Amino acid sequence: MNNFASFTNNKNKFLILGCGFSGSFFSKKIRKLGCTALTSSRSENKDPNSFVFDSEKDIVPNDKIFDGVTHVLSCIPPDKKGSDPVLKSLHNTLERLPLEWVGYLSTTGVYGNTKGDWVSEIDNPNPLQKRSLNRLNCEKEWINSGLPVQIFRLPGIYGPGRSTFEAIRNQKIRIISKKNQVFSRIHVADITNAIIYLLQNKNSLKFHQIINIADDEPCSQIEVIQYCYDLLGLKMPKPMLFEEAKKQLSPIAQSFWMENRRVSNKLLCEKLGYKLIYKNYKLGLKNCYLNS
Ligand SMILES: NC(=O)c1ccc[n+]([C@@H]2O[C@H](COP(=O)([O-])OP(=O)(O)OC[C@H]3O[C@@H](n4cnc5c(N)ncnc54)[C@H](OP(=O)(O)O)[C@@H]3O)[C@@H](O)[C@H]2O)c1
Repeated sequence: MNNFASFTNNKNKFLILGCGFSGSFFSKKIRKLGCTALTSSRSENKDPNSFVFDSEKDIVPNDKIFDGVTHVLSCIPPDKKGSDPVLKSLHNTLERLPLEWVGYLSTTGVYGNTKGDWVSEIDNPNPLQKRSLNRLNCEKEWINSGLPVQIFRLPGIYGPGRSTFEAIRNQKIRIISKKNQVFSRIHVADITNAIIYLLQNKNSLKFHQIINIADDEPCSQIEVIQYCYDLLGLKMPKPMLFEEAKKQLSPIAQSFWMENRRVSNKLLCEKLGYKLIYKNYKLGLKNCYLNS
């Protein structure tokens, strides 16, 4: 078990920019540990800890929001031009704060296609898709920002409320088989816990600016879908071969199948000692099944 004792009741104040799926999971956990967490979204809502930030509409938070902020986590993807929305709108403001740490959620898409081979942080990025080139550009913007930034490269994120179960229930599931194709994944709870674990180890920021957060077992989509049908007690329909299915896929959906890689978590889990809560899709999906 990872021990978060030193975070309890501390005076850290977090800004979570982009409180979507991962951001809201993180903010809930960090509050439970006694920290303050303010979260952004693009529209007003009733949450008193939430504020509006929309880089496209030039809506930026007022100065009061930034008072006493020690930590920032950005979960916002690149803008349409491929730049980072947070740095574009808030760099000057963030520079003036006495920040201890800035986290940026990136993607393992920056590694491109390794034809099924393992890929780690020491490998050179080789993005294939425009969106991954944009992402790599944002990573560079953060690294050059002068802020104490740590970048987390994430594969497919899932968790309660966003998993294969929802796709099955909403009849949006596509069961596609492509020989030797694997995907890496990460349960949202492990993103949160790994980041908090790393925050307690200050040397991890000094020596490791880029860290993959992925589970131990990349595998095919079919294995994941089959496991969900089994848990639901339903029979999985017959898969379609990728070559057939691709005619029906949107260009973006097709592009996901053009990349085949296994994302290594050795830096996080072996060198830095983080213990995954959900080592593989079976453990993670069981949690989704019980909580959705
Ligand atoms: N989903 C995946 O499988 C996956 C895999 C790897 C990496 N990632 C990346 O990891 C990060 C977190 O992923 P997620 O799935 O948790 O994200 P998410 O649920 O899609 O949330 C993204 C957040 O960014 C906010 N946002 C988007 N554009 C914005 C802008 N121009 N100005 C201000 N706020 C903006 C959204 O605001 P609203 O709340 O108002 O919508 C939302 O809160 C993202 O950068 C994502 O691209 C995702």
